[in-house]
Amino acid sequence: MIGPELVEYEDIVLERKIGEGAYSEVYVGYYLNKKVAVKKLKDLISYKLQLTHFLREIGALRRIGHLPNVIQMQGACLKPVSCILFEYVEEGSLDQLIQQGGKLHVEECIDTALQVAHTIYSLHSLDPPLLHRDVSLQNVLVQRESGQIRTILSDFGISTSMKTTGRYSENLASLIGHPRYRAPEITLKRPYGKKIDVYCFGSLLFELFVGTRVGEGLSDAEVCQLRTSGQSIPIPCTVHPDINQLISDCWSFDANDRPKFSEIIPRLDSIKKQTTAHGTKSCA
Ligand SMILES: Nc1ncnc2c1ncn2[C@@H]1O[C@H](COP(=O)(O)OP(=O)(O)O)[C@@H](O)[C@H]1O
Ligand SMILES: [Mg+2]
Repeated sequence: MIGPELVEYEDIVLERKIGEGAYSEVYVGYYLNKKVAVKKLKDLISYKLQLTHFLREIGALRRIGHLPNVIQMQGACLKPVSCILFEYVEEGSLDQLIQQGGKLHVEECIDTALQVAHTIYSLHSLDPPLLHRDVSLQNVLVQRESGQIRTILSDFGISTSMKTTGRYSENLASLIGHPRYRAPEITLKRPYGKKIDVYCFGSLLFELFVGTRVGEGLSDAEVCQLRTSGQSIPIPCTVHPDINQLISDCWSFDANDRPKFSEIIPRLDSIKKQTTAHGTKSCA
């Protein structure tokens, strides 16, 4: 693929808003009678930041459009409004599913976590690796296919290619990821690498298996402060002990102590085998 199809803004019809993030509003609508999701960048952010976000997302999706479980881009338009067209995923994000009380069984939670882990592993295995930098339940879309959940990783607006092997840093650090989920090395403006996605994956596991926000009752700033001072956020003991351990390991303050996705996948596989053998109970 050379680039996304450039579309005329006047050929897009917006129907209703279906989601919102820090940078954009997402609508379901039509492009030449085809149902699509339209991600419009917010005017609140500077045009320069809008353009950076827009180009990062398009650039990343051009590299990874061939991967399974990654959102499919269907077109883009820069003027008069910067927007990107995507396949419309009717059930929305995992976050929306859980917030609306959609109960997932433990086995479904494990399958979901495994799919996301495989997708991030494939991003990290590219040459150069792609860091998503904003892994969260809000950025994983879900579809039910023949009763099975299929995850679709989305929102590559702050993703980046690791052009050098080893560690990577840049001045944009304070803008990267949600403060509640962000790895401490980012907030502390230290060099960072693939393990920032592992840290966020720990929070995704927490919210998936516990069903509440990480650090519920605390402000984003308070959670961020706890994380940067190396203090732990309690994980309820109702969570499967091996998942509990995996979350703690992903949240290790020292990035070197966090597992790689190549280690996370077999750990989740083994938890899946155990739960299949011992029956299920609801999570989230
Ligand atoms: N293709 C899509 N289909 C359905 N819902 C979507 C789609 N893309 C995004 N959304 C919804 O819109 C929200 C914001 O989109 P996102 O790309 O994450 O924007 P931001 O970069 O502002 O965080 C998502 O959390 C999700 O709820
Ligand atoms: Mg988002």
